[in-house]
Amino acid sequence: MFPEIRMRRLRGSENIRALVRETRLSVDDLIYPLFVVHGRRVREPISSMPGQFRFSVDELLKEVKESYGLGVKGVMLFGVPKVKDELGSEAYSDDGIVQQAIKALKDAMPDLVVIADVCLCEYTSHGHCGVIRNGDVDNDETLELIGKTAVSLARSGADVVAPSGMMDGQVKAIREALDDEGFKETVIMSYSAKYASCFYGPFREAAESAPAFGDRRSYQMDPPNLREAILEIQLDIQEGADIVMVKPALPYLDVIRAAKDRFLRPIAAYNVSGEYAMIRAAGRLGWLDEERAIMEVLTGIKRAGADLILTYFAKEVARKLGRMA
Ligand code: PBG
Repeated sequence: MFPEIRMRRLRGSENIRALVRETRLSVDDLIYPLFVVHGRRVREPISSMPGQFRFSVDELLKEVKESYGLGVKGVMLFGVPKVKDELGSEAYSDDGIVQQAIKALKDAMPDLVVIADVCLCEYTSHGHCGVIRNGDVDNDETLELIGKTAVSLARSGADVVAPSGMMDGQVKAIREALDDEGFKETVIMSYSAKYASCFYGPFREAAESAPAFGDRRSYQMDPPNLREAILEIQLDIQEGADIVMVKPALPYLDVIRAAKDRFLRPIAAYNVSGEYAMIRAAGRLGWLDEERAIMEVLTGIKRAGADLILTYFAKEVARKLGRMA
């Protein structure tokens, strides 16, 4: 007890603090999500995500060369298609925009880990994550299109496919479709516990993917639920997920921790667009020290148990970690 025990002894200098520090953010943990559009020389700012852009493939290459040069080993790609239709056909077209981007990235940087989001919402005219029947997304009909999408992305060279549509059985459908086509080594990172969150708002502007009617509550998870998240993750692992994800990150740190304590698969956490926008906005208003806020938030996500962190801050964090090293 006090006065023999003094907790402040180990806080007296930066060097002693460094020696006893429990959690360290590393550039190795980071995945950089990016939006890709048709065209050339396009680098279009996303107004609700200051500092983020929609890139044409040529500009995407420049951006990823830079982030890869800073040590960010993985990127996650989202496509904004030329045309949207009822069945989201560009998602599984071999010359879809993401398919083109994957080929270009893997040609230029064969060792880069390219992760492709697998979902239909960016590609459907109605903005939902699957086939609409009687005003709702039909689960089983959607599975076939999701499987086709994953195969098309793997054929283009994606190392990892990441289903984000929250359809039941989607991991199993993708694993079977990939294996049937010989893509046995393609990794599945499943958005296993994806909540129906308001924090995707800026993303939906970026990807032009807001649902035209209703919302996503009949397939994404109800935010108050934790036990259900555990079951979702368990089912995905049984279906063949190699990496499981919790999304968003900040309001769900307890879910990340529970997943880390229970499962032996790597846990990814997605620090989503709204979490990014909050820090950017407060930083711009001078209400927060942006750089410190970013480091504190991402370190917190890691401390909660995340092995991988998807974040739009990846590039600047990599730069900062490089300066600290
Ligand atoms: C596609 C998808 C979404 C996000 C990732 N994949 C949007 C959504 O479900 O509406 C959100 C990512 C972010 O907000 O940064 N289904």
